[in-house]
Amino acid sequence: MIYDISNLQCIGRTAMALQDINMTHHWLPFTPNRSFHKDPRVFVAADGMHFTTHDGRQVLDGISSLWCVGAGHNRKPINEAIKKQLDTLDYATAFQASNDQAFKAAEMIAHMAPGDLNKVLFCNSGSEAADTSLKVALAYHRSRGEGHRNMFIGRERGYHGVGFGGMSVGGIPANRKAYGTALLPRVDHMRFIHDPVNHAYIHNQEPVWKEDILLELENRILPLHDPSNIAAVIVEPVAGSAGWYLPPRGYLKRLREICDKHGILLIFDEVITGFGRMGTNFGADYYGVVPDMLNFAKCVTNGVIPLGGVVCSDRIYDSMMAASAGSPEHAIEFFHGYTYSGHPVACAAAIATLELFKQDKLFERAGHMGPVLGDALHSAIKGLPTVIGIRSLGLAGAVEMASIPGAPGKRAYDVFMTCFHHGVLVRPAGENIVLCPPYIVEKEHIDRMVNVVADAIKQHA
Ligand SMILES: Cc1ncc(COP(=O)(O)O)c(C=O)c1O
Repeated sequence: MIYDISNLQCIGRTAMALQDINMTHHWLPFTPNRSFHKDPRVFVAADGMHFTTHDGRQVLDGISSLWCVGAGHNRKPINEAIKKQLDTLDYATAFQASNDQAFKAAEMIAHMAPGDLNKVLFCNSGSEAADTSLKVALAYHRSRGEGHRNMFIGRERGYHGVGFGGMSVGGIPANRKAYGTALLPRVDHMRFIHDPVNHAYIHNQEPVWKEDILLELENRILPLHDPSNIAAVIVEPVAGSAGWYLPPRGYLKRLREICDKHGILLIFDEVITGFGRMGTNFGADYYGVVPDMLNFAKCVTNGVIPLGGVVCSDRIYDSMMAASAGSPEHAIEFFHGYTYSGHPVACAAAIATLELFKQDKLFERAGHMGPVLGDALHSAIKGLPTVIGIRSLGLAGAVEMASIPGAPGKRAYDVFMTCFHHGVLVRPAGENIVLCPPYIVEKEHIDRMVNVVADAIKQHA
């Protein structure tokens, strides 16, 4: 399909006509393709907080381009590091050898990670990080003679990417429903962390629940499967993709205690909460809980080049090495890896990104701007028709709207489209509109985003 839009207004040197773009062949991910082709959204440039569209319009990036671009777009130190790396070492095999950038990036990430999380396994995405961490859990238990620990516990509405492992422990129904018996069989899910009656509105603080929702894990799920069979529990510290749902105060600490009591590994999927979103290095730091593995992606390279990974504890690594002590030296201890694990260009981008975050104190800035976003959302949007909840903490917030009977997700999609046409990119997630801007965001940007969202909500009420 080639578009012929005759009334295009082309402003600026990057503008191009849609008819010059052949859109026949690109099957867009997680996108309603039929609707997209009727009203395409094509970005051709970006700088700072803004995109330029094909027709030269400026669109404010209210979602850090899917939680990736913490430092804002087009950051020269990152771009320069990539160009330099390309001219120095473009690629080197990841197996049986490595590269200087991978070692440096791993060292920086390990130094940033809490506790004894010191060993980085690189991959290319959050989905690969999820599958990698699940495989490490199985291999680790086996290395200790506990191969019967082969069951995983995730959480309803959790998102861990689209690999079969991550999808299986994930709990977003639409992502699972087509895959039937191809999902991993030995998985259970804890209940979701949302109380729409008592905690519909969460304003820049952790919700304090009267009920202990982890009793379900202790009293139902673990006895049902027997704790000695559980390899790992995997959760996002904050449920991001579902729509920024925040755990009750003390939840993650108690989850850590339960896992410790039963020898179960705890995996934090920090693909969204990692690298500054909560104003700290990781969600683990914000909540004061150290997991056994921490998955990351997205912001580690400012989204510029794919890179993901799993930071594992020394205990896990040491156990895997010890298990191979009797094997010949040439024997591989963990049969896992990707051609592009620790790609030098991606790692050079990560090094430059992490230096930039530090130099510009961007995590502190995210921590400082978070309440500004939360206050704006609550003051401009609470009480609007159809709004049934607002949750803000860290530099992110979600507005939940009443579902249209028979058309789940339609209201949020309509609001997203209207916001886009008014120059603001927001994220529809179920019945939620999520805002998670880059850490460089200014108050004027926040006011603009929130006002555009408020107007769109009124329009679609
Ligand atoms: C918590 C979490 N895990 C995993 C993923 C999957 O990451 P990717 O899309 O890079 O595979 C995401 C993506 O949003 C995520 O939010």
